[in-house]
Amino acid sequence: TVGDARPSFAALIRAVADFPKPGVLFRDVTPLLADAQGFADCVAALAAPWRDAGVQAVCGIEARGFIFGAVLARALGAGFVPLRKPGKLPPPVLAVDYQLEYGSDRLEARSDAIAPGTRVLLVDDVLATGGTLAAAQALVAHFGGDVVGASVLIELEALRGRERWMGEQPLHALLRY
Ligand code: PRP
Repeated sequence: TVGDARPSFAALIRAVADFPKPGVLFRDVTPLLADAQGFADCVAALAAPWRDAGVQAVCGIEARGFIFGAVLARALGAGFVPLRKPGKLPPPVLAVDYQLEYGSDRLEARSDAIAPGTRVLLVDDVLATGGTLAAAQALVAHFGGDVVGASVLIELEALRGRERWMGEQPLHALLRY
């Protein structure tokens, strides 16, 4: 985590009750994305811990992880690899299946997207139960990539997703709710 003071761009994230279903408090990042200064400040904060980490590839997770991941890749001078939901990428792909609360899902990447030993940073907008990020970690490991860590914009602490993060590499969250 980066500091204890809440950055000013946090005020641009809108909390929406009962979306997408009753009882869920949705964090809408689109007002933040639409604010030039807020988005710039957010990207700078996401990049800060990784400036000297030798990141070669940023893997962003569909769909909102693409937005933050791609700009972070540019900020760090790294390439960008989209980790996609099933059926979006043409074959050949490598895939990892993971469990959701009800059912399962899958992340895929082009089968030559990550060369063995590539230093990879994982990026997503939200860490909730942690299943998605753990699956991304497993997928990069499947390629023989070297996950140097992960950054998320928002960590929903009550869901304890951090406990599913494997290994000692840093998992940074800019905002914790
Ligand atoms: C959200 C979020 C993360 C994931 C986190 O994605 O963007 O990718 O859920 O949940 P977890 O920690 O419990 O696995 P969503 O499935 O809503 O997809 P989207 O970005 O395409 O809307």
